[in-house]
Amino acid sequence: MKICRTKQELRTARAALDGTVGLVPTMGALHDGHLSLVRRSLSETDHTVATIFVNPSQFGPNEDLATYPRTAERDLGLLEAEGIAAVFMPSADEMYDETAQTIVETTHLARILIGRIRPGHFRGVATVVTKLLNLAQPDAAFFGQKDYQQLCVIRTMVRDLDVPVRIVGVPTMREADGLAMSSRNVRLTPEHRAAAPALNDALNAAQGHVGVSVGKMRKLVRDRLQRAEGADIASIDIRDAETLAPVTGTPDQPVVILLAVRFGDVLLIDNRVIQP
Ligand code: PAJ
Repeated sequence: MKICRTKQELRTARAALDGTVGLVPTMGALHDGHLSLVRRSLSETDHTVATIFVNPSQFGPNEDLATYPRTAERDLGLLEAEGIAAVFMPSADEMYDETAQTIVETTHLARILIGRIRPGHFRGVATVVTKLLNLAQPDAAFFGQKDYQQLCVIRTMVRDLDVPVRIVGVPTMREADGLAMSSRNVRLTPEHRAAAPALNDALNAAQGHVGVSVGKMRKLVRDRLQRAEGADIASIDIRDAETLAPVTGTPDQPVVILLAVRFGDVLLIDNRVIQP
């Protein structure tokens, strides 16, 4: 496994690969969710390149950039064991020129839902993913459905800018009790960790009630979440699963329930697509 710390090293490693290449962008602190993307890439492409970069431009001034978990040595061991071709782990200075001024933004999608809670977040994501795609020039790139709006942003960016890459959405990996795996889970207190499966439980409950109105669905989910110790509901949204446009009445198209719930200062997200 080649460890590339500069853009030039990545370009050189990429050029040496024959056959198809899959890219798995991450911010490190790897867990089985990330590794499921790596395995999917390994199964669908000839070579897999992963990236580990805690991207400053997608964190707001009061967010957890400084405390975001960093476990580089462990991450490299996990990736090596999967048998990938290369990993790109640049410094922030290597990634961004100090006079950088170009941004990539999905103007509408970046401002709704999580984009309202985290202004500038999706602009940072779309910009860094564009750079990673340009550097690694993969045939396919793999993203988790756990970050549903992020996946929509990336699909839209790739479509709008004619980026020659296939975007693959990979199902959410969960802990045994249903909590969606996340690098932030380690920051939950034991009490909050015990309550956090409420997100998945609420989504399961909604999934069991097909053919109900969006209003009823939201109420069902809210009631479930309110019973969870320490859960501070940031948002419950029910949207068209493809466009994320608002939906009213009883949906006749696939919708997605998007949850954002705070436990202490940890914001957890989860989602479920509900078929009509
Ligand atoms: P990060 O949070 O490290 O996630 C990297 C990838 O792993 C994302 O595509 C995310 O959706 C996926 N992922 C996270 N938890 C998952 C789970 N439980 N099951 C399946 N996939 C999961 O998302 C980012 O980093 C960044 O925004 C990035 C795209 C790398 C741009 O900086």
